[in-house]
Amino acid sequence: MLNIALPKGRLGEKVYEMFEASGYECPSLREPGRKLIFENPEKSVRYFWVKPSDITKYVERGAADIGVAGKDIILEYAPDIYEMLDLGVGKCRMAVAAPKEFFDDGEKTLRVATKFPRIAADYYESRGREIDIIKLNGSIEIAPILGLSDVIVDIVETGTTLKENDLEVREDILPISARLIANKASFNFKADEIRRLTERMRERIK
Ligand code: PRP
Repeated sequence: MLNIALPKGRLGEKVYEMFEASGYECPSLREPGRKLIFENPEKSVRYFWVKPSDITKYVERGAADIGVAGKDIILEYAPDIYEMLDLGVGKCRMAVAAPKEFFDDGEKTLRVATKFPRIAADYYESRGREIDIIKLNGSIEIAPILGLSDVIVDIVETGTTLKENDLEVREDILPISARLIANKASFNFKADEIRRLTERMRERIK
């Protein structure tokens, strides 16, 4: 049995379709309801819906053999896992954004609000810029508007959230997409199953 952690939400549904098309379907998963765990013994798969930012914890500790996580989550938590495949979905970018009127004269410590303190710290360290990180859990865009921070480091997909809050991208940090990840021990003792699944998924990538 392969235990697969899927990120709850739109991306997870898209990714599940890739598993389904690769021959790892689990019909009960499509039934409406609030259940979180689904099994198809015929295909030897068990899926569970997990909060996207928790996926790497399930995979790193072996509660899931494989899972799907954004590159942002992988870089932020630096889990001890194998990154198997770029699935080519969930594409967005990590960027620095600021209110249009903000000008960084480089003299004061830059106040950065973000859900991704490690990514932000690494980025500014590589540029030799001193920063003060304000770790938030969501609605990052309001931080500079209310004067809590100077800039934000956040995910930009369509750019709508920034636009509607009068913010603009100042610097691109890195491109993001969803990755297939595997637990290291599972990769050894379920080697054939995981390799087969990875190859079938690779064929689904557009
Ligand atoms: C993410 C991100 C931005 C938004 C970007 O937030 O933090 O707020 O999506 O998307 P856009 O460029 O298409 O507007 P999410 O939806 O994950 O919510 P959160 O802020 O509560 O984490």
